[in-house]
Amino acid sequence: MDKQMGVWTVKLLLTAVLKALVCSLYIVPGVSGIQGSIFVDCGSNAGYRDKVTNISWVPDAQYITTGVNGYVPSAQTNYPNFSEFTTVRYFPDSTAKNCYSFPAISNQTYLMRGTFFYGFYDNATTTPSFQMGIDGTIVANVTFNDPVTFVYYEFTYVSGLNTNATFLCLLRDSSNSIPFISAISFSPLPDDFFYCSSPPAPNQGYYAQTKYRLNFGGNRFVRYPDDIYDRYWYPEGSNSTFLESTTPPPQILTTNHNIDENNISPVVIPEAVVDTALTTTGENITIIFPDDYTFKPYVIFYYAELDPTANATSRQFYIQVPLYEAVFINPIVNASQFSVSPVCYTDIPYVAGWDIVLYQDQTNYSPLGPLVNALEVLEISENLMTILTNHEDVLAIENIKLSYTNLANWTGDPCVPTPHPWVTCSTSDTAPIITQVDLSDYNLVGPISPNFGDLLSLTSLALQYNELNGSLPQLTRLTNLKFLQLQNNMLSGELPAWLASLPSLKDLLIQNNNFSGPIPPSLISHSGAWTFVYAPGNPMLGSRTSKSTNIGIIIGPIIGGILVLVIIIGVIVYFQVQNKRGKTTKTSGNLQMMKSSHQGAKFYSLAQVTVASDNFKTMIGKGGFGHVYYGKLEDGQEVAIKVLDVKSTQGPSKFFNEVDVLSRVKHRNLVSLIGYCHEDNQQMLIYEFMHKGSLRDHLYGDPTMLRIEKLDWKSRMNIALNAAQGLEYLHSGSNHSIIHCDVKSSNILLSNNMEIAKVADFGLSRLIYGEDHITHVTTDVKGTTGYLDPEYFTTQYLSPKSDVYGFGVVLLEIISGRMPIDSTLPNGNAWNLCEWVRSNLQAGNIDKILDPIVKASNLQIDVLWKVAKIAIQCVEPKSIHRPTMTKVVEELRAAVLQEGLNSSEYPQSDTYGIEDEYGSQIDPFNPR
Ligand SMILES: *[C@@H]1O[C@H](CO)[C@@H](O)[C@H](O)[C@H]1NC(C)=O
Ligand SMILES: *[C@@H]1O[C@H](CO)[C@@H](O)[C@H](O)[C@H]1NC(C)=O
Ligand SMILES: *[C@@H]1O[C@H](CO)[C@@H](O)[C@H](O)[C@H]1NC(C)=O
Ligand SMILES: *[C@@H]1O[C@H](CO)[C@@H](O)[C@H](O)[C@H]1NC(C)=O
Ligand SMILES: *[C@@H]1O[C@H](CO)[C@@H](O)[C@H](O)[C@H]1NC(C)=O
Ligand SMILES: *[C@@H]1O[C@H](CO)[C@@H](O)[C@H](O)[C@H]1NC(C)=O
Repeated sequence: MDKQMGVWTVKLLLTAVLKALVCSLYIVPGVSGIQGSIFVDCGSNAGYRDKVTNISWVPDAQYITTGVNGYVPSAQTNYPNFSEFTTVRYFPDSTAKNCYSFPAISNQTYLMRGTFFYGFYDNATTTPSFQMGIDGTIVANVTFNDPVTFVYYEFTYVSGLNTNATFLCLLRDSSNSIPFISAISFSPLPDDFFYCSSPPAPNQGYYAQTKYRLNFGGNRFVRYPDDIYDRYWYPEGSNSTFLESTTPPPQILTTNHNIDENNISPVVIPEAVVDTALTTTGENITIIFPDDYTFKPYVIFYYAELDPTANATSRQFYIQVPLYEAVFINPIVNASQFSVSPVCYTDIPYVAGWDIVLYQDQTNYSPLGPLVNALEVLEISENLMTILTNHEDVLAIENIKLSYTNLANWTGDPCVPTPHPWVTCSTSDTAPIITQVDLSDYNLVGPISPNFGDLLSLTSLALQYNELNGSLPQLTRLTNLKFLQLQNNMLSGELPAWLASLPSLKDLLIQNNNFSGPIPPSLISHSGAWTFVYAPGNPMLGSRTSKSTNIGIIIGPIIGGILVLVIIIGVIVYFQVQNKRGKTTKTSGNLQMMKSSHQGAKFYSLAQVTVASDNFKTMIGKGGFGHVYYGKLEDGQEVAIKVLDVKSTQGPSKFFNEVDVLSRVKHRNLVSLIGYCHEDNQQMLIYEFMHKGSLRDHLYGDPTMLRIEKLDWKSRMNIALNAAQGLEYLHSGSNHSIIHCDVKSSNILLSNNMEIAKVADFGLSRLIYGEDHITHVTTDVKGTTGYLDPEYFTTQYLSPKSDVYGFGVVLLEIISGRMPIDSTLPNGNAWNLCEWVRSNLQAGNIDKILDPIVKASNLQIDVLWKVAKIAIQCVEPKSIHRPTMTKVVEELRAAVLQEGLNSSEYPQSDTYGIEDEYGSQIDPFNPR
């Protein structure tokens, strides 16, 4: 492209008449800024007029529904003139997306600025980091160099078409720290604001981030009311760091004369900025920029002749920007005295350490040196996603949110910049559309919102496991709907016949509801691939005489030789629930699970697993349930593949149910289930790979590990606390209760940096032996010798306290560094770790049981006693004498704190810490 193309000197673009028109359109007396401007003091309780700036700040509650008001005591000290910094809104809820919504008209240029003053508002010791989004795009990573210096991120952009809202969103980044914001400025800009238009002017799909606004020669920070948009202009004197130092230094030029702005339209630069300038008595002024310039700049250079003695030949100079032809400037000839003109560069090529040189015209030598009044540098980015989700879908989602209070926290556009976790969007179209809604297990109460029926592109609607009641609303417009899951609610009324006429519907699951009346025959005699499950539950549904109702599952004919079923029954089973639900599912043939939920474990084919494991080359473990192999998935993720022993596997539907449950159990201290494979009678579970092996390896199991990475007392306590937290979560997650059944040191795995321990193999016994095993054990007792709860052994009654027993044994291993049963020891009494420790402790001989490494650690003896006591309580023969895991966690945490570890790592569960520090403690049945 011709370099000259990017340069414009703009002359008298608009007449005074037009300017007056523009002003009367935009300046409204009595209101801050221009009509449509919104200056938001985030976290403030009421609006007020700022004594310093005269800005009318408004509180933010009307623009956002999430977050908490915070107070910043240090703001007044650090920024006495910025009243908006004394409060913040912060977002402790682990919701990933918090959006302010401002009324907007489509295809309008806007200025949006988020300002952030941290000032230790949360009493933390480190600054947070997070992201800022505008509409569909993450536009900034918000970071702080200094906790008491404010930062701002300001953008000029054009709103999307067909929209009446624009969003500023704050999103968590990988640090998972808590986003906050101090203030927002939001102003519509005149259409021709970017008078240095094309190419590439900010337009649909472009946005510009403000990098610098420099007020050369100024002696104060200029903002509102001088700048009606409240942009920030920084004063740059003769010692400015943006200038190459010269001898003689640049001089400041000022005037009291009014500056004419006719040359730029509309009013885009405050008088207070252009009525000062820098000039030089030397040859050159060189404006320098940081060496790490990597962005696509948009530079606007402003000049105005301020010297009353100047004439048409007294000041002539060139502007030289790298790789551009120099532009000749004669302020008085180009404009006139006291009249400001811009020079725009929209596309400066990447040059390391670029600078702008203003140099005197050597041929037409003029007595006055070059001058500069102001400079703006913006960073242009392409691909701003202003296209928001299809308007019909947005309206439907907004209405659905009105029906269920626990969805109110999902703010902003449903699909962008990140989708609400319960929707799946397709963005292949021009505007994103919602294709799936998964609100299973979301504690939804009340009738099914009829607005689900307005999500016309929906292919899957999953509402199972809620407390939905009432009858089915009309969903007849959902012509793309393939999967409709309503099981395990309290829905009632008759089954409407239109269900059978939904042209795409393949799976209809309604079991465990209270539907009544006849089953429309069309649902039973449905042709094509068709699964209809309505039992167990629904006692009033269908005629009791009809044979087909006895099974409660209608499965369509085999298509293409493969029967594809979705059978999800009894996904959540509370172990303590004694009564077993209704009929069992009949399963047959070659079943393949089709996951209805995109949040659970992923399906992998046998071929994929074979490739990932390099044909099951590296065995990394071997247990009662099968062998474990190392693997690496296509995306590079390292995994442990557990191939279940064929003999011990159960039917496919049970397998899928269990996988579904286990994949939703997510916690920082539990090894997560990533995927599964079910093919050719093979059942495999794919887990995250834990690099450092097991606790057992490190205590005494693996001589190499033992030598290389000795676990000192502090690490051991940390591991114990981690594991206890994982088990506690298994036992008392908000919507489930899972007994591990095989707690042992080889099931506690360590992360790469040894800082996080995770419990592995939970739920496996349930997977293998079924839920019967849990409440009512008829077959032989399973578990591992040495860790087995003696009460369970004799009564065959299993409870969470059995896990507590196993955990107690692990604690004893941690203290003593020896295995639970060691038959190599000479004295039979010492074989059993619990007995051996108990008798020694009773004799007061704690020294005798200590692992030499523990003994060598710099530990507090009373903490050691405390932990030993917890361990002994856990291995009490009678379960009633053992503490719960919750109690164990509490006591271990106290012990860890006392031991003097960094207390912030172990927040109490009643502070925000458990939600946020342990951010992965997602309720598995309400993922994020
Ligand atoms: C959007 O606004 C620009 C500038 O005002 C105009 O040129 C363009 O035609 C508008 N686009 C649409 C689709 O209205
Ligand atoms: C920070 O500490 C001060 C003084 O102890 C206290 O008043 C304030 O509530 C604390 N703020 C937060 C957010 O914890
Ligand atoms: C934010 O940081 C990430 C990671 O460093 C980077 O990939 C991304 O481009 C950054 N985003 C913005 C808007 O700067
Ligand atoms: C946006 O437009 C829709 C209809 O087009 C209307 O229902 C809604 O209230 C509008 N929202 C705002 C914030 O004006
Ligand atoms: C420049 O000079 C001004 C006024 O003398 C002073 O306040 C400021 O700190 C100086 N800045 C730098 C970067 O030296
Ligand atoms: C001024 O800038 C011009 C153009 O870059 C350069 O040739 C000249 O050497 C500079 N003069 C001084 C004194 O730096």
